[in-house]
Amino acid sequence: MEIVLSGIRPTGNLHLGNYFGAMKSFLRLQEEFTCFFFIADWHSLTTHPRPGDIVGSVRGIMAEYLACGLDPGKAAIYVQSDVREVLELYLYLNMNAYLGELERTTTFKEKARQQPDNVNAGLLTYPTLMAADILLHRAHKVPVGKDQEQNMEMARHYARRFNAMYGCDLFPEPESFALSGEAVKIPGLDGSGKMGKSEGNAIYLVDDAATIRKKVMRAVTDSGPTAPGGVKPEAIQNLFTLLRAVSAPDVYAHFDGLYDRCAIRYGDLKKQLAEDIIAFCAPIRERALAYAADVAYMERVAAEGAGKARESAARTLKEARRQIGFRP
Ligand code: TYM
Repeated sequence: MEIVLSGIRPTGNLHLGNYFGAMKSFLRLQEEFTCFFFIADWHSLTTHPRPGDIVGSVRGIMAEYLACGLDPGKAAIYVQSDVREVLELYLYLNMNAYLGELERTTTFKEKARQQPDNVNAGLLTYPTLMAADILLHRAHKVPVGKDQEQNMEMARHYARRFNAMYGCDLFPEPESFALSGEAVKIPGLDGSGKMGKSEGNAIYLVDDAATIRKKVMRAVTDSGPTAPGGVKPEAIQNLFTLLRAVSAPDVYAHFDGLYDRCAIRYGDLKKQLAEDIIAFCAPIRERALAYAADVAYMERVAAEGAGKARESAARTLKEARRQIGFRP
């Protein structure tokens, strides 16, 4: 049976990028495979959150996981810091991870630029902790968005390196998974780049209608197409990418046709997009609020998920310790 694993950092609420890049695949995969979905709270320490904020953020994301439709009856849903076994594997992988390759990763370089006063070792070894999350369950499929490709490449690298070093085939090479076969990148509405928490351009699943309208109506556009059948500039393509994600196919075709005929009015497109995002988010927001009010239930889900994850982790570590030369 193939194993699926993925995680999201609890550094804010889930946004449309998280949903269409990752969550949508989680929902499909939980129907078919042995799945582990976790909340990457240890990863969030690289930016030094305040202690009081951690519990609240983890509960918030747990409520949103459940509100999106993750089912604790089908998948193990757990909090990373409840499964300490991952730290042992992180240590083993770090012994075979090299400074040069870690320093070269784009996310490290980007973060080092964003937080020059806090270029900590955890930031440097972020890819080995992520690899440890994945290899801990010997996962085959990892549903992630396009921005995680380099981290996934490193995870495959560390799996191969461990196997080669100890002459075993303990770790399968984890493959990135996207429903469409192609990794998803959801853009922001500020003209370029991806939607993200740190980019400050995210539309959150729990945003209310007024907030969503305001964010969409502010989206960057241009003065309109000048020749029929022209290629859309990035800012406009971004609006259409979101429209494709949340709207019905005929709505997308309608606006695409108007664009092609140079008859589009961006105001109408934005209004439609805003209403479709609102319709998509409203039920998730409602369920998330209900789950958030039931802390005892969420604690039960987390405890049950951690139990399943620790069992699977213990099996992997027993074998890893034996290969390395420790008592299993
Ligand atoms: P994080 O928390 O930044 O994002 C969680 C998931 O959402 C996807 N995503 C996007 N997809 C498409 N378009 C976007 N604009 C967009 N923004 C975010 C991400 O690709 C990701 O799938 N390092 C990970 C967390 C992690 C992890 C793991 C993931 C830790 N350990 C092990 C998989 C397996 C991260 O920071 O994701």
